[in-house]
Amino acid sequence: MNQTPSIVEQVREALRVVIDPDLHRDIVTLGFVKEINVDNGHARLTIELTTPACPVRDALKLQAEEAALGVPGIATVEIEMTARVRVTGPQGSLAPGIKHVVAVASGKGGVGKSTVAVNLAVALAQTGAAVGLLDADIYGPTVPLLMGADGEPEIVDEHIVPLNRHGVRFMSMGLFLEADRAVIWRGPMIGKALQQFFEDVTWGELDYLIVDLPPGTGDAPMSLAQMIPITGVVVVMTPQEVAQQIANKSILMFRTLESSLGRPLPILGVVENMSGFVCPSCGVVSYLFGEGGGRRAAERLEVPFLGEIPIDPMITAGGDRGEPAILAEPESAQALAFRSIAGLVAARISALTMNAEELDPAS
Ligand SMILES: Nc1ncnc2c1ncn2[C@@H]1O[C@H](COP(=O)(O)OP(=O)(O)OP(=O)(O)O)[C@@H](O)[C@H]1O
Ligand SMILES: [Mg+2]
Repeated sequence: MNQTPSIVEQVREALRVVIDPDLHRDIVTLGFVKEINVDNGHARLTIELTTPACPVRDALKLQAEEAALGVPGIATVEIEMTARVRVTGPQGSLAPGIKHVVAVASGKGGVGKSTVAVNLAVALAQTGAAVGLLDADIYGPTVPLLMGADGEPEIVDEHIVPLNRHGVRFMSMGLFLEADRAVIWRGPMIGKALQQFFEDVTWGELDYLIVDLPPGTGDAPMSLAQMIPITGVVVVMTPQEVAQQIANKSILMFRTLESSLGRPLPILGVVENMSGFVCPSCGVVSYLFGEGGGRRAAERLEVPFLGEIPIDPMITAGGDRGEPAILAEPESAQALAFRSIAGLVAARISALTMNAEELDPAS
């Protein structure tokens, strides 16, 4: 063993050049460097990020490698990248094992909110995160269809076990209702149903619970936000001007809700769905309903723009078959868009969490 503490210290100092672009601090200050071992010129590092879905994970690894190799006496570097999703603030007794609740909302129906929620959940799960998906759309639950599952969930010890599909634990009122039966819900019943989705479902430990809200500005967002701390909201809109105006309204509704709650309810960002149409034969993108509307709307409202998802009949067909687009054609433009959006959502949650956390200056 040729372990000299000083060279370990030198490596640690060298790693301070690696800056996390979302958190604007170096990985040593952020406490991401968990282990440094040096043996005969071979450095072994463990770097723990705040999400397995980190979009700059590979870039950070490369930079850390280069920084360590710059230390005299280091010939080879081996880096293990791990992740632990952090949490700040109260998680609430209703959801003790759930680190982050992400609500997916839209001002109006049919904009692809459920499609975005499902693909976001699967994309996050693919990175190794523990992910749940709650269909809070009590009126028109479509998550079972989109996830390709039906059948009643098991009840164990008077608790409902969520179904597991595509690596995501999910729950929906649709699993309990007979197909095609219309349901009339009154305001208080929605709150009660949502409460049961937390109290009576064995979610276990989850890094992210994605909640597909019903469209509009009704009771569900209100009940949900009052019941459990929501980490943030993703707003889905389509490119048409009228859809943008409705999405604006929905964002304003969340801001009003935030001030009445007296705790933060951040908008994680805006997703524009059904934007450009990619010609399957020539690859040229046509913007049937105008280009850049979602981005402009996000700028106007001073919320992040997360990305746009092209319109593609494959998404509709995959949805109908219960195979989310991200799995059906993982290399397609829409799958890439969903993965990028998932990374940005996770990064934004990390930034919110880390900014709230007291950083350890000694680490
Ligand atoms: N980018 C897209 N390209 C093609 N089809 C899409 C796209 N996004 C969603 N769809 C399809 O549009 C329909 C509506 O989508 P979805 O059910 O996700 O919308 P929603 O906003 O959840 O609707 P609702 O308000 O009824 O809950 C579905 O058939 C879905 O497969
Ligand atoms: Mg829906």
